[in-house]
Amino acid sequence: MCGIVGAVAERNVVQILLEGLRRLEYRGYDSSGVALIHNESLNVTRRVGKVKELSDAINDVNGVGATGIAHTRWATHGGVTEANAHPHISEDRFAVVHNGIIENHKTLRSDLTSKGYAFNSDTDTETIAHTIAELRKNTDSLLQAVLQAVPTFHGAYGTVIIDKHDPSTMVVARSGSPLVIGLGIGENFIASDQMALLPVTRRFIFLEEGDVAEITRTTVKIIAADGQEAKRDIVESNVEHDAGDKAGYRHYMLKEIYEQPAVIRNTLAGRVSPDGIAEDVFGEGSEAVFAKTEHIKIIACGTSYHSGMTAKYWLEAYAGVSCDVEIASEFRYRKSVVKPNSLLITISQSGETADTLAALKLAKESGYMSSLAICNVDGSSLVRESSLSFMTRAGAEIGVASTKAFTTQLAGFLMLVLAIGKHNKMPEELQKSILQALAELPSKLEETLTLADEIDQLAEEFSDKHHSLFLGRGDQYPIAMEGALKLKEISYIHAEAYASGELKHGPLALIDADMPVIVVAPNNELLEKLKSNVEEVRARGGIMYVFADKDAHFESDETMRVVNVPHCMESIAPIVYTIPLQLLSYYVALIKGTDVDQPRNLAKSVTVE
Ligand code: F6R
Repeated sequence: MCGIVGAVAERNVVQILLEGLRRLEYRGYDSSGVALIHNESLNVTRRVGKVKELSDAINDVNGVGATGIAHTRWATHGGVTEANAHPHISEDRFAVVHNGIIENHKTLRSDLTSKGYAFNSDTDTETIAHTIAELRKNTDSLLQAVLQAVPTFHGAYGTVIIDKHDPSTMVVARSGSPLVIGLGIGENFIASDQMALLPVTRRFIFLEEGDVAEITRTTVKIIAADGQEAKRDIVESNVEHDAGDKAGYRHYMLKEIYEQPAVIRNTLAGRVSPDGIAEDVFGEGSEAVFAKTEHIKIIACGTSYHSGMTAKYWLEAYAGVSCDVEIASEFRYRKSVVKPNSLLITISQSGETADTLAALKLAKESGYMSSLAICNVDGSSLVRESSLSFMTRAGAEIGVASTKAFTTQLAGFLMLVLAIGKHNKMPEELQKSILQALAELPSKLEETLTLADEIDQLAEEFSDKHHSLFLGRGDQYPIAMEGALKLKEISYIHAEAYASGELKHGPLALIDADMPVIVVAPNNELLEKLKSNVEEVRARGGIMYVFADKDAHFESDETMRVVNVPHCMESIAPIVYTIPLQLLSYYVALIKGTDVDQPRNLAKSVTVE
């Protein structure tokens, strides 16, 4: 989703801004732009398309300036046009970039129009530029103007404003959309994601909700939501500098699929041993919370929601604790009942998903005993705003389609099962079996990745298909859902997932030879039931692709193609069976020639609702 980079320095910052935008490309965008102040003039360049188009348009005249802001836009208000790309300008003096949505933009627009401001775009962002221009007329500084403007904006924003009459200063404001200040030596920076600034600094200040900050080359002044000046901690980042490197793989997604055995080793390291799970792996005080937990509520979006759904099967079956799972955008807008001693768990790769953050905020006001974030980005809003946290340690995930974040979340949930089960009379034998399964997990994933060539060949058969159905039962049902999500988001083939017991309640009507049916079939207690569902499909002329344990005894024939997945212990089977489904969607997308890492219309981090 939209990305922001800004700098105040003594040197020309254009390359820093463009490199920052390149590093944010993975988040998804459709246009970009940059504004630089040089010799009291404001030079703005905007382009539709990739950052490459923008950098090609930069030259010796418009590409010079020691103060500048830049943006990648993912359209919300107004189509994908150069005029709607940021930065937006007011009075040829103020330039503004903005992530988020100003919900009252229509009212602001009509007020500002009546005051004589002409609008050059259809965006909500342009109202920020003109509001600040108007308020600056009766204030002493840009900071004062922004502080007065902020209460007039309803909605979510992370915004940065520069004024060509004061090139030494950037003013930034955060409400619902993250911003991080990067501290340099004699120069300072701002970005919506620390990834953008890693080539220039590793020292960061994460702004909090409601913060407004004035940033010069040598100073940072933060005014908190209560109007008082505030001090914020400086955090030294340990994010890998070269996370943006494909390491020889054709796509980030493929690299990230292959990284899974290694990152899961990382997720487990120092946290589990053959003797059990270490104390307080889920944060200081987590053991005391788990000892009291009677119910778990999980909230997340997209792929993270699927990991929550899988966890529900595990938490109830293995740890004996009741659990329900809900999509964040639903939870945040309904009235719900909180059961006594409920633990709230949010799951997010980015830790910045607007709906999940809003759901957490609402839940904290509704009487949950404690909140735990399972997250991949340390220092993210979700982690900072939760009482407990567990970092998945998947490393930077660049491909828009989530892969390693999902499987590390699942590994984290198996650890949670052990941590909660300990307080819940979980049989020792079951604990031992999960510990052994976790120890075997990385090598099982390595083995499963050797199926890549077989799956690559199979993908050919999907290239002319428009629809597909994914089936699973029990804890493999959410895996089927995740498989369907992966296929639709990167190959644009319509894919639906069903718990296979539901087939005869409607979806069987869809079955014909043009609708491939993908089945996940480990050798578990539901196998015979699943086999009956497979026969129902076969009897109606369906063509199936079955990912099965060898001992499940499926045989390939003219209606069924069987891929044997390495045998594994039952508790880790959902993680193992995720791999072939990721590979399948990757290879189908390759054949279809889509933009695998940045699929159309999608963004990596969904910071607007
Ligand atoms: C799908 C995908 C999305 C995200 C969702 C939540 O591949 O990546 O469905 O899972 O947008 O994002 P996070 O996990 O960052 O909260």
